[in-house]
Order: sequence, then C-alpha cells, then structure tokens
Amino acid sequence: PRTHLVLDSAFTVGPVRRRLFGGFVEHLGRHVYDGIHEPAHESADEHGFRKDVIELVKELGVTTIRYPGGNFVSGYKWEDGVGPVEQRPRRLDLAWHSTETNEVGLHEFQQWLDSVGSELMLAVNLGTRGAAEAIELLEYANIPGGTARSEERKANGREEPFGITMWCLGNEMDGPWQLGHKNAEDYGKLAAMTAKAMRQIQPDLELVACGSSGASMPTFGEWERTVLEHAYEDVDYISAHAYYEEDQDLTSFLASGANMDHFIKTVTTAADHVQAHKGSDKRIDISFDEWNVWSITKWEAQQKTFTLDEWPVAPRLLEDVYTVADAVVLGGLLISLLRHADRVASASIAQLVNVIGPIMTEPGGEAWRQTTFFPFSVTSRLAHGTSLNVVASGDTIDGGKHGTVPVVDSAATVEDGHAAVFLVNRHQTESTTVTIDLSGLDVDGDVHAEGIWDDDLHAVNDLSNTSRVGLRTNESVRREGDTITIELPPVSWTALSIG
Ligand code: AHR
Repeated sequence: PRTHLVLDSAFTVGPVRRRLFGGFVEHLGRHVYDGIHEPAHESADEHGFRKDVIELVKELGVTTIRYPGGNFVSGYKWEDGVGPVEQRPRRLDLAWHSTETNEVGLHEFQQWLDSVGSELMLAVNLGTRGAAEAIELLEYANIPGGTARSEERKANGREEPFGITMWCLGNEMDGPWQLGHKNAEDYGKLAAMTAKAMRQIQPDLELVACGSSGASMPTFGEWERTVLEHAYEDVDYISAHAYYEEDQDLTSFLASGANMDHFIKTVTTAADHVQAHKGSDKRIDISFDEWNVWSITKWEAQQKTFTLDEWPVAPRLLEDVYTVADAVVLGGLLISLLRHADRVASASIAQLVNVIGPIMTEPGGEAWRQTTFFPFSVTSRLAHGTSLNVVASGDTIDGGKHGTVPVVDSAATVEDGHAAVFLVNRHQTESTTVTIDLSGLDVDGDVHAEGIWDDDLHAVNDLSNTSRVGLRTNESVRREGDTITIELPPVSWTALSIG
C-alpha cells in the first residue's frame, strides 16, 4: 500500500491547546492508594507520594489532570477528604465496591500535582449531591478568606486559595450505572443551576457539562442536545468519553480513530445545532475527559466475582496490561484528537497509574511504563503550535465495524520551523510506503522517526519484563528536498520530528 500526504501551512485546523494532553486520577482500585501514594515505599516523599511515579508522570507529559472521579465522584463527600487525616472517615465507595480511607483528599492531591507540574480539573458530585455542596467546595477551594469554608481551608493548612479554574459538573450522568443517574432534562436543569450558582462566586470559571458516556449510549446525540438546551449559556464545554478494545476483532480495533472522529463530529453538530437554535454567539467545545483503550468485556466478567460483604481497600481493579496493538491504537486516538484540535479544547487519558494506566506499580517494588506510555509521551512532547489539515490520498482498508478507512491515519503540527507528523499503519501484514510533500511548509533540517511496532502484536511490559516493549527508530526515513519518504511496518505507530 501507498499513501501520499501534503502539508501546507495554509491548511490549518487550529492551535493545539496543551490541555489536549491531560490525564485523569480517580479514587479507584490501586490508582491513588498503592499507586501514586504509598508512604511505606522507599521512594515516598514527605507526603507519602512515590517519587519514581512522579518522575514517570512528568516524563509522560500530562498537562491538566481530572480528579477525583469518575464514577467515584457521584457518591463522594469532598469534606471527608479535608482536615486532620487521622480524623477522616472511612466510607463505602459504592461505585467500585471498595472502602475509601480518605487519606488522600484535595490538599494532598494538590501537593502531588505541584510535584508533577500539572493543573487540577476538579469534578463535583451531581449524583447524590447538588448545587449547594458544589458551591461550598468552590468557596473552600477558591475564596481567599473571611468565610466559613475558606477559613476552614486555612485552618487545614492552606493559606492561599487553590485557584481551580476548570470544573466538571458531575460525571457520566447519562449512565444507568451512575449513582444519581438522571435523564437529560433533569441533568440539564441541574447543570445549569449549579453553573449559575458557581459563577455567582467566580464568573470566569471554565465549566464542563456531562455529555455521553460513549457513542453506543441509546441517548447519544440527543443527550447533548437536551442538556445544552438547558445549560448552553452557563457552561463552556460538553464532555465526551470513549474507550476502545480489541476483543478478538483487531480489524475494527485498528480503525478506532474513525469512531472517535464520528463521536467528535456528532457532539459538535449537536452543540452547534443548539447554538443556532438559541441564536447564541458562544461556541461550545469538547472536553474529551475520558478516552483510552480498555478491555471492558474482561472487566465486566471480573466484576461479577464481587460479593456483597467484600469492601476492600485499594483492590486490583481495571489493571489492563497493554499490548503493542493497544499502543498503536492509542497513538491513533491521539491523531484523531489532534485532527480536531479546533473543537477539542481538552482531553484526559483515562487513567494514569495502575487503573487502565500507561504507568504500573508494584507495592514496595518497581514502577514502569506500559506500551501505551510511549505514543502519549512522544505526542505530548512533539505536538506543538498549530494542527495542520493533512491532505491525504492513497489506499484504503477494511475497518470492520467502522467501515472503510485510510490504510494510514495521520495528523501533523507545525511551530517555529519545526514540524511533527504522526502516522498509524493499519495494515496487518504489509508495510506501507508514505511520501510527504513539505513544500508548503517553511521547515528545514533533518527528519527523525521513532515509534512502536513488533513482530508480536501482543507483547507487553509486565512485572516479569518491565521493558520488553519500547520506542524504536525507523531507519527507512529519508528527506530529499521537500519530500519525505518512509516505510511503515504493519500495525505500527510512528512520529516524525522535522527541523
Ligand atoms: O475510567 C473508568 C470509569 O469509566 C470512570 O469511573 C467512569 O467515568 C467511566 O465509566
């Protein structure tokens, strides 16, 4: 197969906002406890956070981090997580059938964020709670002082406000599994009311309303329209969540990016429909605040083994071990996000550590990079400036349930004489020759190609070998004048850095 790409600085999608490379930390399984927080670990800092994990999170290059859930937040009382740690209550976490010790709450998480250098995106509970608790949390977090909640924060050791800008108004409220699940009418009204109340305290907040939990939800599209009919002028973003899995269908799996494209198009169409209907000047963009590869089928089977009297602390949940194929698909999902940089304002890989995460840890032991770590870290490092509208022509391939798709998926960015091109070869048995015409770009200099591919598509990094899979250099890349040529191995993800 062959593919030809034309890059031209006149054909642009829009600026790449750094929040596109966000992450997500939920109180779930071993993500917080025995993941980022393990006071007994030899690398723990004075707050009990593992420094080896902090270093890996920094290397991953995540920007904004969503917290504390997820399904967890829909039953969470934020007050349980502040004040003297020894006085904090242990609670049942209904979302994950676990015990929440509350050793880590807002203050501790902010300390961890300061160490990794990321911004906090905080979710409020609109499942079992409402606007009243959300504004108390906002008062606690962002008001400098002189009120009950802000003085409480100071008494708890934090003199300066947290200054949190971005807030999620609940989580996946369209999902019947969600505590406090609502229909779109009821949620839309609650989101609007909560947003209005929060803005009375701080008008410049950036607020995210819940969109659909997935494109296969029966209310997909209509949910967004109805919620925004109620909340359009009160919020800034609508969320999107999407997970993809191989589940014995590699052909469809490799075309997952096409489904993400469809998802983004549907949500922006619904938002723009409401904009037209309301005659509004304002545009609502997407916060793609959960996306990843996740073997949900396997998880659902595992979930059935829980019994009613079991409420473990930090059990091993959703600990997917990622393959080379998973990493290739994850790189493809980042391509889709970059291609829609005009409408996707932020995105969060869900999640970060142990729980469907690019980073794994063992209690008392190592921390290591999963296969999916590599496409994320490289894309976050290289994708800067403007996302280009790549004009592609060439062979297509069967994308299974996603229809016919280009054999090579691509995205590109350019900034200050440097360009980056991201490529996925979806062909399962053949390499693909890609030529790239750079004559429309002012980018001189050498080209370097690195990526992920392997004869064993299901090779992993695990405790028995934590570095079996890593980045490889593609030696076939050549630049002659304004033309680049490269051979992409079957089922591969590649990043080119030019200039
Ligand atoms: O990321 C795991 C879970 O997936 C989140 O808690 C929930 O929001 C989604 O269904």
